[in-house]
Order: sequence, then structure tokens, then C-alpha cells
Amino acid sequence: QAKRRADYQPPAFSIATVDLHITLHPTQTKVISTLSVTRSGAHINPLVLDGDNLSLDSISINGTPLSDNEYTVTDSALSVVTELDEFVLEITNTIAPEQNKALEGLYLSGGAYCTQCEAEGFRRITYFMDRPDILSVYTVTVVADKSVPMLLANGNPVDKGEVNENTHFVKWHDPHPKPCYLFALVAGDFDLLTDSYTTTSGKEVALELYVDKGKKSQGVFALESLKRAMKWDEDVFGLEYDLDIYMIVAVDFFNMGAMENKGLNVFNSKFVLADQKSATDDDFFNVESVIAHEYFHNWTGNRVTCRDWFQLSLKEGLTVFRDQQFSADMTSALSNRIKHVRVMREHQFAEDASAMSHPIRPEEVIEMNNFYTVTVYDKGAEVIRMFHTLLGPDGFRRGMDEYFRRHDGQAVTCDDFISAMQSATDLDLTQFTRWYSQSGTPVISVAHSTEVDDDGIVKHSFTLSQHTPATSDQKEKLPLYIPVNIEIIDDEGNSYTDKESLIKNGMVILKDDSMRFTVEAKTTRLTPVVLGNFSAPAKVENPLGTDALLTIFKHANDPFNRWDAMQTLYDRCVKQLEESPGSAISNDIWSGIKQAIAQEKNNLELLGECLVIPSFETLCQSRSNIKVSALSKARKAFCNQFARALEKELLDIFNRIEQKAYSYTQSAINERRCKNVVLAHLARLPQHEHKVVSQFDSADNMTDTLGALRSAQHCSNSTFDSLMAQFEATWNHDPLVLDKWFALHATQNRDDIFATITMLCEHPQFAMSNPNRVRSVIGSFAFYNSERFHAVDGSGYKFVTDYLLKLDAVNPQVAARIVTPLTQWQGYASEHQVHMKQQLGRLLNHKGLSKDLFEKVSKSLAYD
Ligand code: ARG
Ligand code: ZN
Repeated sequence: QAKRRADYQPPAFSIATVDLHITLHPTQTKVISTLSVTRSGAHINPLVLDGDNLSLDSISINGTPLSDNEYTVTDSALSVVTELDEFVLEITNTIAPEQNKALEGLYLSGGAYCTQCEAEGFRRITYFMDRPDILSVYTVTVVADKSVPMLLANGNPVDKGEVNENTHFVKWHDPHPKPCYLFALVAGDFDLLTDSYTTTSGKEVALELYVDKGKKSQGVFALESLKRAMKWDEDVFGLEYDLDIYMIVAVDFFNMGAMENKGLNVFNSKFVLADQKSATDDDFFNVESVIAHEYFHNWTGNRVTCRDWFQLSLKEGLTVFRDQQFSADMTSALSNRIKHVRVMREHQFAEDASAMSHPIRPEEVIEMNNFYTVTVYDKGAEVIRMFHTLLGPDGFRRGMDEYFRRHDGQAVTCDDFISAMQSATDLDLTQFTRWYSQSGTPVISVAHSTEVDDDGIVKHSFTLSQHTPATSDQKEKLPLYIPVNIEIIDDEGNSYTDKESLIKNGMVILKDDSMRFTVEAKTTRLTPVVLGNFSAPAKVENPLGTDALLTIFKHANDPFNRWDAMQTLYDRCVKQLEESPGSAISNDIWSGIKQAIAQEKNNLELLGECLVIPSFETLCQSRSNIKVSALSKARKAFCNQFARALEKELLDIFNRIEQKAYSYTQSAINERRCKNVVLAHLARLPQHEHKVVSQFDSADNMTDTLGALRSAQHCSNSTFDSLMAQFEATWNHDPLVLDKWFALHATQNRDDIFATITMLCEHPQFAMSNPNRVRSVIGSFAFYNSERFHAVDGSGYKFVTDYLLKLDAVNPQVAARIVTPLTQWQGYASEHQVHMKQQLGRLLNHKGLSKDLFEKVSKSLAYD
């Protein structure tokens, strides 16, 4: 059942052109596909086309219908036997978009037809060689009843007209050869925003954004973001858009974030619609970043695509890196870096430690949709970032130019990308390539010893060593080529360099099991500041005391290290409260934090981030054998002491940040962020509950409204309930806003949580067929309501499993996402594990379980 990367075979046929004629109907959509096929080389194998859930109506070659012995059809394939080396194959088949609840292929989203073909959805539309290395030029005629006014497909419109009194058509042509996963069709009635963009070389591009009726004003920000992304890609990479028209359609039913179909992106409406009243600063940020991500795919993904799906990170890691760089330029480098590091630590490290562990270029896949992972995407982006760090911005740009020079119009591999990068540098990247084949999170350990010589000179010797723990998929690990940003500082903040000159431009390369360097100083107190800017996707073990951590905060050059030092300090405090519950955090620590606050009082960006206590999920990554309620109680106890010990400082910050008229600018974002972080701390003190209520009442934007509601999670139940009820009454009509309300309810740590979730699932706006709703209720519970999901009696696991059994029959892709926390039992204490495995067993024994769930559940149960 599994496919292996090593088994790749070039295609036996090529398909130069695809002509599709699609007559839309909810239950009887007719697809006529005309393919010009050429045999590759001298073989006599049949032409095998993929098909899934299709019913074949007719098949002919060069106009002559095939007889029964010239083809065979099964559930998953159509084989055609012919001796011709070049021929035109015409296939007619019927599909039923209305019945398609898996949201793969052609389906109906709230009345509009739309498609999702990546990874293997095109085979649910028609029979085809559904693999990314088949590149064809598409011509698509969309036919529909006139009650469906807008008919869209990839490329440029070339014809339109009437078929008869009730039916019309539009014909589209996309001149760029593309794999079928980039095919798209959309048909419906939308509001349309239009704009245009002129590229540096003077090409005029029409921009069109399609949104649900009545939502036009919520599309403005997305369109502006698109223009910023187009400009940025020209400025930074010299890449221009290549068609006359760029269309984006927002739909409500969508499995993922968005899809980069050539010239016709389809988006989850959550990543398009945004305005001050209904969207938070994070929502605006996400809209801009996803719009840019899909746009950037036009070069990294579409013009140069993947040879096979094992190479997914070729386009995704690279495109995520590009969108991260864009966001950093549009907003702030530091908050972006922190945001992405949080994703790595909370989710990617957890994946590495689980049965789903895989390298950024996987070796073995059962269901491709299961590999759109934080490893392929986010660790993939970290690997690209390391190229960027090692080659520098100019070297990286040379490598990218060479990549496009060599591979424009091709379907290629990660090795092709590496080789283009290699051509742009004198560094030998051979060992670096291991990042593509080795899974797991490397741990970098720092050891420091001193020796004083007769003249009073202190010789400091530092050893950095690396070790990657075995993962479920790979027992043996080899040393990686790791760029480690490093500073050595003393208590006054003076920085030192090593005698061996291994530190170059603030970076060492750790490539063996360990390396050593020495520093001479007059003081015995030097602090190694390691992994600046998170220069590699690794964990660090650096045994520093509180003093050293505070020194880093005070004096390190790298703001990421400064933030991280505070995170480490907080992690230590939580650990103390786990080991001795009820103990008090020492005054030294509080006064250190107070000094830090005073030092940064005017830098609200860093200050805000430094006041965030590591999430439960992040804390899990530096622990094993986790007893959830003990860790959760310790974290909560620390938060409570934090609020009490720093009440005066917190209040001072809170009062200093005055409420201004809303604007979406970086300084205003920093202010709102900092103020809301502080409010969440103060909300733990009953005397400040009124601040939460008053912010809720007076807020003129969703960031502050939601900030108040999140804070209210720490207030009394009655306050929380009353604000939530008001919020629902105000926003009942807006499903995207209601998702936030769903999620807040689902993450409440309350005894009546299951009654609450059942109530949410019965809400008139809830539907199991809508992935956004399911993710905000069931997903939020499983991923972020740690105490209730991990209740020791197993009730949380059972609740989620019961739901997944139903959901899997409707939408397996979404079910397979939400099962993730259940499959990650390895980190938890045995009293949790027993229950988790029991529920996984129920899933595995279920008749008719999807491939998606089967792969994750069976791997999880096989891992010990
Ligand atoms: N290529 C899309 C993106 O990253 C994601 C599509 C994934 N779809 C899926 N069914 N797995 O922008
Ligand atoms: Zn992508």
C-alpha cells in the first residue's frame, strides 16, 4: 500500500495537450477530456490512467470507440491497450460534485462549484496520469446553467457565449504547461473586486478577487497584499508574473489554507476576508502571508514544479521561506522569527518525536495528504533558511537565479535545487544535504570549563556537541552540518572571540559530533549565547544559571536570543513548581524580570513577547513522561505568581499604552499585542477583572475584543459566560468570527466541557461538513485544551475518537489532521498512554477506516 521514493519511474507516456469540456450539474457533471498522448521510448505497455469515484461513459482513440478488449476499468485505474505511439484519446465520464464531502476534486462549497486537485484530486474529476511530472497545456470549456453566472478556469479567457437559451459557456486557455494538480475550475455567483498591477517590465496584469455576496469590503486588504507580494518578488528575486490575469476566489468549505492553481488561486475564506471589526491583527497577518505564499508559488511550484510528491518540500519549504521573508519585510523581523520558532517548537518537534516522524523529503507514503506537514513545510523552510544563512543573501539569490535558469518549465527534485545552490558557493554542501534525508530534532549541547593560568588569565574552553535521538522511522543518525550563531559575552556585555577563529561573522559550523574552541579573558564569568535567530531547527542544552540567562537578556546582540533567554527562565520556574508544588519562585528571579521590564519599557514589541509564558505545548518539548495535570497546574501556578509578583509593573505597562483609534501599523500592532498579553496576566487577579470587561465593552476592533475574551478565560465563569453570550449575539451572522467563539469555548478548562462541545456541535452555524467549524471546535479541543483532552480517565480521548469515527466517513483529510494529538502518546506518562492507545485501537478496528487515518493510526500503534 505504501509508495517509496526510491521506486520512482519516469512516465511511460507524455500528454502534450489536455482539452476539457465540463458541463456542470450538481449530481451529473459531464466531463469530456481530449488528450494528445505520446509514448515515451520503445515499450509496449498499456497507458494507465488514474481514476477515483468516476463513472466512465465512453472512450475512443482518434475518433474510433474502443472495443471491450482494448481497455479495462477498475475502481482506481483505466488501462488502454494500443500499439499507436501517438494518438488522441477521448474520454467521457460523469461525476457528482454535490455528493463530494471529502472536498477533493470538484465539489460544491455553499452553492459554488470549486476544485481542489493537489495532491491527487484530479483523478476524481477525470481519468488522467495524476502525477506532477506530466506537464500539459490546458484548454478548458466550462458550461453551466445561466443561474451560475461566473465561470472560471486557469489562464486567459479566450471565448464565451451561449450554448442555448438557458446555458452558457466560457473557454479558457493556459499557455504554460502544468501538472494536473494545478488545474482549477470555479463557477458561481460572487462579488468581484478588480484592480490591476503593472510589472517592472511594463506588463499589465488584471487582478480579480471573488468573494461571497456582500463581503466586498472585506476583500480590500487581500488585494492590497497581493500587490505588495507581486512587487516584493520583483524586488527581491527578480520574478514577475506571467499571465494577463490573476484571480483569487474565497470559499467557505476548504480543507487547507489555500491553493496556488495557475492563475486561479482558491482560498479558504479565512485567509482572504478581513476588516477592522471582524479580524484580529493575526488574521490580517495571516491573510497577507497566505496571499503572498500562493502568489510566490507561481515561480516556486508552478513554473518549476515537483517531479514526484516525495519532493513536496522543494516547493513548500522554499515557498514558506519566501513568504516568511516577505512578512518579515512587511511587518517585523523579530516577531516573525518568534512566531515561526513557536510553530517549530510546539508542533514540528512534537512530530519528530512521534510515530509520524519523517525527513523533510519523506521516504515512504501511504496517503500523500498526510504529508502536508509541519516537517515538510516549516522544517523545510528552516532548511532553506540555512542555505540563505550559509550562502548569504547574494549567494542565495545567485543560487535561485541558477535554479530558474536550469529548470524553468520542468518538474524537478530537491537534489536539483541543492545542486543549483551548490553552483553559487565555494562551501561543500555534501554533508548539508543530510537535512533532506535525516529525520529528527538534533540537540546541541554546550559545555563550558575554565582554567586560570599563573598570570591570572582565564582560559575558557567551550565544547559544542550534537546528537540526534533515534526516531520512529530511523534508528541510526549521523552528524548534521549545522550553522550555529554564537556570541560569547561577559557580565558587562563585552563580546569575545575565540583563539582558533572558528567563530566567523558570529557563526560556527558544527559538523562533527563535537567541536571545541577556547576564549581567553580576565574574568571567570563568560556566557555562551547559542543559536542566535534560531539559526538551525535544533534544541539547545546550555546549562546556564539564572544570572547568565538575565545577562543574555541584558546584553546579547541578538534579540531572538534575548527573548529565548526569558523563555528558558520561565521554563525553569515551571519546572521548580512541578518538582515542589506550592513553593515560591525566588525574589532574585522576580527582581531580574523587573529589571528586564524596566530596560525594555520603550520596546513594546520585545517586551510583549518577553511577557508571554511558554505554552503548555512548548513546555512539553523539554519534558518526557508528562503528567498533564501536574504540568498544567505548575504552569498555572507560575502564571498566578507572575501576576501577583509583577502586578505593579504590569499595571504600569497597561496604563501607559493608551487606547487610540484603530490603525493597522506595526507600532499599533505592537501596542495592542503587548497590552493584551499584559491584560491576560492581570485577569488572573480578581481585582482587575473589571479591566477585561471594560476593554470588551469599549473595543473598536476584533484584536482587543478577542484579547478581552481570551483574558476572560482566566476570570470567573460568570464573567466569561456573560461576555461570550454578548459576543455570540453580536456575531451570530458571521461564521469566521463565530469560529473564534467556538474555539474559546472548546479550550475552556471546565467540568462541563463535553456538554459545551455537544452544544457547539448543535449550534445552527455548525456543520460537520465544514472544515473550519470542525477545526475550531474539535481541533481546538484536541490540540489546545490539554487538561481536558488528557483527562486521566480517558474521557477526552474517547470523546475525540467518537467524533473522528463519524467525521472520517465525511472528510478523511480533516479527520487525519485532528487525530494528530492522539497519535503523539510517546511523550506522556503511562496513565495517559494506556487510554490513548485504547482509542487508537478502536479507530484501527473500525471497518471502512480511510487510508488517511489508517496510515497515522497504524504507525502510531506500531511505534514503541
Ligand atoms: N499547495 C497548497 C499550499 O501550500 C496546499 C494544498 C494542500 N492540499 C492538500 N489536499 N493536501 O499552498
Ligand atoms: Zn504552499
